Amino acid sequence: MARPHVVVHVAVTLDGATTGFTPAIGLFYELAGTWAEDVTLAGADTILAQEPALREAPRVPAPAGAPLLAVVDGRGRVREWAALGAVGHWSGVLALHAETTPPRPPGGVPELVVGAERVDLAAALAVLGERHAARVVRVDSGGGLTGALLDRGLVDEISLLVHPRLAGPGHRLWHGHASGTGGFGLISAEPLADGIVWLRYRSGS
Ligand SMILES: NC(=O)c1ccc[n+]([C@@H]2O[C@H](COP(=O)([O-])OP(=O)(O)OC[C@H]3O[C@@H](n4cnc5c(N)ncnc54)[C@H](OP(=O)(O)O)[C@@H]3O)[C@@H](O)[C@H]2O)c1
Repeated sequence: MARPHVVVHVAVTLDGATTGFTPAIGLFYELAGTWAEDVTLAGADTILAQEPALREAPRVPAPAGAPLLAVVDGRGRVREWAALGAVGHWSGVLALHAETTPPRPPGGVPELVVGAERVDLAAALAVLGERHAARVVRVDSGGGLTGALLDRGLVDEISLLVHPRLAGPGHRLWHGHASGTGGFGLISAEPLADGIVWLRYRSGS
């Protein structure tokens, strides 16, 4: 099976930051429904930022067809696996670990071990396609994971929800530290309410 279609959907400021502002969350998730992803792929830091809220979140069943949540957690830092699986957004959770990930308790979260020092992102996507029938993967990242995926040529589509704000220095940029190769072709540019613009690009011009 071919690698899944990988789309990065991210709320950004005019200066490219993913943090340091309050995004239009309702709009963000409404638009995220565009892709009806099979797998939501998140970085550990994105999940860690949500862990305090997750502990308090109500437990509700996930609707039929809800995606699987796969979390890149090469250093074994995520703790709230049970909450992630019970908040009603995802049909299940899968930890993506590497061979050097610290020991985990037996019988914990289902895991996929790919890569030696860090999670091998290309291999992880291939397994998500083969074993989990993933055709579409939506990346939920503040830039760290997105940058690593961009560097490896693993991003097919970029969706930027641009907010008319400046976050200033010291914030995570949506592209992380990607080295900046390749062009992008415009799919659509749509002005929305409150000065927000939705930009969609495909990789390769
Ligand atoms: N504005 C938005 O739309 C938006 C969306 C999501 C999150 N956020 C915010 O962004 C912040 C978190 O973003 P972040 O950029 O710090 O982290 P992140 O996007 O969650 O990415 C960090 C993850 O990427 C992995 N990673 C990075 N480089 C890698 C490589 N070369 N190979 C394999 N794995 C690699 C890390 O692996 P290890 O596990 O090995 O460290 C870690 O799990 C939070 O504040 C969150 O609230 C904003």
